[in-house]
Amino acid sequence: MEIRTENPEDLEAVRNVNIAAFGRENEANLVDRLRGTGSTFSFVAVQSDRIVGHIFFSPVVVEGKCSKNLSILGLAPVAVLPDYQRQGIGTLLIQQGLKECRRSGFQAVVVLGHPDFYSRFGFIPASRKNLGCEYDVPDEAFMVFELESGALQDCSGMVKYRSEFRICE
Ligand SMILES: CC(C)(COP(=O)(O)OP(=O)(O)OC[C@H]1O[C@@H](n2cnc3c(N)ncnc32)[C@H](O)[C@@H]1OP(=O)(O)O)[C@@H](O)C(=O)NCCC(=O)NCCS
Repeated sequence: MEIRTENPEDLEAVRNVNIAAFGRENEANLVDRLRGTGSTFSFVAVQSDRIVGHIFFSPVVVEGKCSKNLSILGLAPVAVLPDYQRQGIGTLLIQQGLKECRRSGFQAVVVLGHPDFYSRFGFIPASRKNLGCEYDVPDEAFMVFELESGALQDCSGMVKYRSEFRICE
């Protein structure tokens, strides 16, 4: 199992992973819209030359009180082919992805998802760091992980994803 940065020739396989994992095209289309819009990160999980998993990060902004130097990413989506789920591939993608985001100088990552799953990587409810979600979701589902300890100390406000997230198709 190898986790590596996505290559241009991976795009169709990445689409297929997202469509198969989510059972619809929305997430695959979102990735296609976001790719190349600023500091996005896309990693794939490769097993026996086959792309079996994918994770994507794109920049978010905080509308509120926050240092201009603070760079935060949103994790979305993460997907593993159904036949390959529950074998630790999603875990590897998230761990490696977070490591690369830290290495690239980002200070925090937000995610909207299952608290039981993401808490194992260190994500906590974003509300505990005074960050709110632009979507009407349960408090515990919107989470944040500080890549740099204390980075969010003087930050509060509403986290906004890129406008590409607002187009539903
Ligand atoms: C979520 C996902 C990326 C996890 O990948 P994975 O390779 O299966 O994850 P791992 O094997 O590393 O971790 C397994 C854990 O994920 C959780 N999990 C995986 N699939 C799950 C599912 N369908 N429902 C609920 N929890 C699930 C479980 O807690 C599981 O732990 P367990 O096996 O100890 O019960 C994968 O299941 C997937 O692609 N799901 C469909 C797309 C999706 O929902 N993406 C996340 C959006 S927030």
